[in-house]
Amino acid sequence: MTNNNPIGVFDSGIGGTSIWSAIHDLLPNEKTIYLADSKNAPYGQKTKDEIVALSKKNVEFLLENNCKLIVVACNTATTNAIRELRADYDIPFVGIEPAIKPAANNSQTQVIGILATKGTLNSELFNKTAEMFQNTKIIEQVGYGLVQLIEDGNLYSPEMTQLLESYLKPMVDANIDYLVLGCSHYPYLIPQIKKIIPDHIKIIDSGEAVARQTKNLLQDKVGFSEIKQNDPIFYVNSDPKVLESILEYKYPVIKKDF
Ligand code: DGL
Repeated sequence: MTNNNPIGVFDSGIGGTSIWSAIHDLLPNEKTIYLADSKNAPYGQKTKDEIVALSKKNVEFLLENNCKLIVVACNTATTNAIRELRADYDIPFVGIEPAIKPAANNSQTQVIGILATKGTLNSELFNKTAEMFQNTKIIEQVGYGLVQLIEDGNLYSPEMTQLLESYLKPMVDANIDYLVLGCSHYPYLIPQIKKIIPDHIKIIDSGEAVARQTKNLLQDKVGFSEIKQNDPIFYVNSDPKVLESILEYKYPVIKKDF
């Protein structure tokens, strides 16, 4: 089965590029369109209704661009809106959720930590999944302020270090052996996180799992591109400079209202 239309990927901002890059590496023939809704970031403090409305707006833009499948590269949007998106649009969606399962199943201490947005940790979808792991103590922490600092380009600021220490040290003291990054922005913080937590604590994010799931859906339902068209398109609706720098200036970024 072949289908040369693009894969659409969206996030509240630049964080979903961590997912995009796993997709781009695994599926180098596919054309991708990435949407950073930075004007409305962060989503994590918004209500469910607001997150659903913003997600629909992003999906409509990607559908106007003929996307064949949409990756919701945002845990907050997935956990609050993917059910509504699947109900309203006749296109396959891949979502991203905090990787509780591999962490809980492999934990030796039976204590794991999850760092995510308030919207994700309060969502029904997240809480239903967490309830399935009654034998594991799950320490949930909202990453207040982290997404905004990343969106502002302040990844290595003293404020970032201070926030991360205050969120992670109590988890270390509680004896976690897995730290789940439940927000697609947070993989960009791994170097700073590693300076705070001991080496034996494993860090998990869901980027590669999302890329594999995308590949499976193309194989089973949608179709692969039969031509090599791996020049991605990046759209952002606020100042493009942070997205350009996170992409290491390898790709052009188009500023557009959506
Ligand atoms: N990157 C997002 C996530 O995975 C959203 C962060 C935000 O906008 O608050 O949750």
